Amino acid sequence: MSDAEAQKRAAGEAAARLVESGMVVGLGTGSTAAWFVRALAARKLDILGVPTSQATADLAAGLGIRLGELGETRTIDLTVDGADEIGPGLSLIKGGGGALLREKLVWEASKSCVVIADAAKNVKTLGKFALPIEVVAFGHKTTAARICDALAECEIGMAPILRRRDGEPVRTDGGNLIYDAPCGRIEEPAVLAAALKSVTGVVDHGLFLDLADRALIGGPDGVVELDP
Ligand code: A5P
Repeated sequence: MSDAEAQKRAAGEAAARLVESGMVVGLGTGSTAAWFVRALAARKLDILGVPTSQATADLAAGLGIRLGELGETRTIDLTVDGADEIGPGLSLIKGGGGALLREKLVWEASKSCVVIADAAKNVKTLGKFALPIEVVAFGHKTTAARICDALAECEIGMAPILRRRDGEPVRTDGGNLIYDAPCGRIEEPAVLAAALKSVTGVVDHGLFLDLADRALIGGPDGVVELDP
């Protein structure tokens, strides 16, 4: 196992220890969240999981975790999820795995959110990782042009790139498309977040601001906890 994978695993296992029987737990998406789901399943607690993607639903169900849907359970007590970048104040870029919309819906419905990651995800300024932006398929090229304008207003001169796999546009669980915006440096995440949300056709973006209550970061010397 690589160092990064071991750090993800340690963070996932530390987060699983935060869960208590009786909780409704948001289950994140991605390789780090998968370590959390495995460690949680191993504890055999009486919990209800709310998955943030079909992939996580499949993993959790296969491990015997009872699942519910967002809105059909009581409030989510705790959500644990990975991130692509963790910046100042626990501002995040998410969506590398294409699940940002369901993730944000579950995060916003949670009493508490814990982000888990390996040490390489911790950055001084967000933006090196291309920012995922989910758009509806109808008219997406027009939407992409308007995203370009919104980025330019924020002094980001790069064009967003349609995410493809095997040459075909990637579809999210909701049937939408993803554009990845190589921003370089995001100096004012809240301003960019508002500009992107104002574009008709943008469903949501991967900036998660003021949502994480705590971070558990795996590192060479163990798991470190960060507060906003
Ligand atoms: C999924 O859409 C993402 O938000 C993931 O949480 C993020 O990409 C982190 O993934 P890894 O844990 O695989 O690095």
